[in-house]
Amino acid sequence: MHAPNALPVPHPDLSICFGGGDYAQSARMLLDFFIRHADLKPHEHLLDVGCGAGRAAWGLAEYLTPEGRYSGFDTFPMGVTWCQENLSPRLPNFEFRTVDVFSGVYNPGANVSAEAFRFPYPDASFDLVILVSVFTHMLPADMAGYLAEIARVLKPGGRMFATYYFMNDATRALLAKGPSKPDFTKRYGNFWVADPASKEDAVAFEESLVRAMLAREGLTPAKLVPGRWCGRDGCENGQDMLVAVKPQSGQAHQLRT
Ligand SMILES: C[S@@+](CC[C@H](N)C(=O)[O-])C[C@H]1O[C@@H](n2cnc3c(N)ncnc32)[C@H](O)[C@@H]1O
Repeated sequence: MHAPNALPVPHPDLSICFGGGDYAQSARMLLDFFIRHADLKPHEHLLDVGCGAGRAAWGLAEYLTPEGRYSGFDTFPMGVTWCQENLSPRLPNFEFRTVDVFSGVYNPGANVSAEAFRFPYPDASFDLVILVSVFTHMLPADMAGYLAEIARVLKPGGRMFATYYFMNDATRALLAKGPSKPDFTKRYGNFWVADPASKEDAVAFEESLVRAMLAREGLTPAKLVPGRWCGRDGCENGQDMLVAVKPQSGQAHQLRT
C-alpha cells in the first residue's frame, strides 16, 4: 500500500492526458467509483485502457495490495512516459506502456486502427478493465474492436467500468431544454460529435448501440450511473458510468449495490 499524497502529480502542461482539473482529487474520486460501482477488491488485477497520465493509477496506489496488479496503456506517449518515470519506480506492481494505435485526436500518425488492435495481454488476465473518458474519444467501429478485446482479456466474472455520453430518451428530454457540455451538434446515425472537423474530440453514442455491442461480446450491463453532461442534476460524475460483467460460464453475476 502506498499513500497517494507521497506520489508526484503531473505538471498542468500534461492536462490533455487527464482532462484537466484537480488530478489528485479526481484520482480519489475515481477510486471511490471503482470500489462502489465495480466492486474492485485490493488484490485484483486491473487494466486501464487509455491510462493517460496515470490518474486512475495514482488513486489505486493507495488501495491495491502487493498481490494486486495494475497495467495501463495509451496511444499518446507523453502521459505514459510521465508515469514510467514518476510512478513505476515507486510502484513495483504497476506497469505502463505506449501502444501505437490510430486516434484522430491523440495519434493521427499511427498505422494500426483501434478496431484492428489486439491488446498485448493474454486471454482472461484481468478482474477489472477501466476506461475513463476513452470511449468518449472513439468512433463506433473502434469501440466495437476494443469491446471484443476487453471481453477476451477479462476473466470470467470480471467487470468493465467505462464512461460514456449516452443518448437515450431521458437525455434527449434534458437536451431539449438546453445544450449539453460538450455540445453534440452533429449526428451520424447512432453517434454524435461536438466537432465534425475533429470527431474524436467528443463522441456520444445511442445507448442501444452500446448495449447491442456488449451483447455481441457476451458482456452483461450491470449498472448505469447517469452523468451531468446533459444538464441532469444530482450526479456523481460529469460523464455517464457503465459497468458490464463477463458472466461466469452459465451463471449471472451479481454486483453489490
Ligand atoms: C481525456 S484522456 C483520459 C485519460 C485517463 N483515462 C484519465 O481519466 O485520466 C483520454 C485518453 O484516451 C487515450 N486514447 C484515446 N483513444 C485511444 C485508443 N484508441 N487507445 C488507447 N488510448 C486511447 C488518449 O490518448 C488519452 O490519453
